[in-house]
Amino acid sequence: MPYQVAVSGASGYAGGELLRLLAAHPDVVIRTVTAHSNAGQPLVAHQPHLRSLAHLTLQETTPETLAGHDIVFLALPHGQSGQYTDALADTPLVIDCGADHRLESVSAWDHFYGGDFHEAWTYGVPELPVDGGTQRDRIVGATRIAAPGCNASTVSLSLAPGVAAGVIDPSDIVSVLAVGPSGAGKSLKTNLLASEILGSANPYAVGGTHRHIPEIRQALAAARSASTAPETADEGIRISFTPVIVPMARGILATSSAPIAPGATDADIRGAWEAAYGNETFVQLLPEGDFPRTADVLGANTALMGLAIDRAANRVVVVTALDNLVKGTAGAAIQSMNIALGLPEATGLTVNGVAP
Ligand SMILES: NC(=O)c1ccc[n+]([C@@H]2O[C@H](COP(=O)([O-])OP(=O)(O)OC[C@H]3O[C@@H](n4cnc5c(N)ncnc54)[C@H](OP(=O)(O)O)[C@@H]3O)[C@@H](O)[C@H]2O)c1
Repeated sequence: MPYQVAVSGASGYAGGELLRLLAAHPDVVIRTVTAHSNAGQPLVAHQPHLRSLAHLTLQETTPETLAGHDIVFLALPHGQSGQYTDALADTPLVIDCGADHRLESVSAWDHFYGGDFHEAWTYGVPELPVDGGTQRDRIVGATRIAAPGCNASTVSLSLAPGVAAGVIDPSDIVSVLAVGPSGAGKSLKTNLLASEILGSANPYAVGGTHRHIPEIRQALAAARSASTAPETADEGIRISFTPVIVPMARGILATSSAPIAPGATDADIRGAWEAAYGNETFVQLLPEGDFPRTADVLGANTALMGLAIDRAANRVVVVTALDNLVKGTAGAAIQSMNIALGLPEATGLTVNGVAP
């Protein structure tokens, strides 16, 4: 029997990508799709590329419409998921693509988001090194999963192997990240109009204000050790993070660097990333001297990574490309679903991108 699935936020970008991937997943059937202002309209009026789902109508997002499924995906603006998750206590598996269940620290939530704090769920980035193993170990059998922020998972995956192995100094991380406007969702915003972004690279949330900063610090703290209290676990992990919106519909290219830890050899450094990702399907370290392009990962559940050791600057530099809507959200959510349910991890997902 396939799992019965509901997807909320189905008219949006993350919801649409969840549906595109779930439509090809052999073990699920998409029974319910919900939205907000567009409830009552055909799904394909908002997702015209999802032809196999043309029979579905967007319903109101309520606890009642989401109840009675085996799996519920929430792809709502942050701050909106919590009201539904409390009411879904009987649902065997709930996966939230929003931020509501990502942060363990109440003070970090208050500082960067505000509003009601909801408990942290199992973080849905399986490949992250955590406490001698990987985050995958924690996802096995999980019933509540928080899919990652797309920028956050890109930077965390980039640097976590070095933090876990102690070959970089996490107190002086710098990351500058190019991201396409789909990362900000589908709702109309003046700064995301084509006339504002075409032919331009636009920085935003400069100077330590981006909401993904505490999520990155939390993931890197978990790579270092899992045994500290949430409010203090990320002490000593400092990051200067600058996202830049660039005129491509989807994709992220993050350039992240940190000082080389005293005594770390080139073999120690490269070996840390090879050990972390050498056996992974969806996170791949490129050969020395190679660096990824966003074009290589479009539509794929793949994070491609290149690593340089800049001895003159005394820094390790990691360049990572991924598709914000796949590995950065919907693909991570479905990969985590597969692990949680004991299905083969790659079911319904592909490492291959779309080109040109
Ligand atoms: N876009 C990405 O690359 C990305 C990456 C990682 C994580 N995420 C996360 O995924 C979530 C959705 O992002 P998105 O980019 O898909 O946003 P989006 O394109 O703006 O879609 C938002 C969806 O939520 C619905 N919605 C809006 N307000 C609602 C409410 N009060 N109650 C119930 N539903 C409501 C909208 O329905 P109507 O259209 O009917 O109003 C729409 O279906 C966010 O939390 C975001 O942080 C997104």
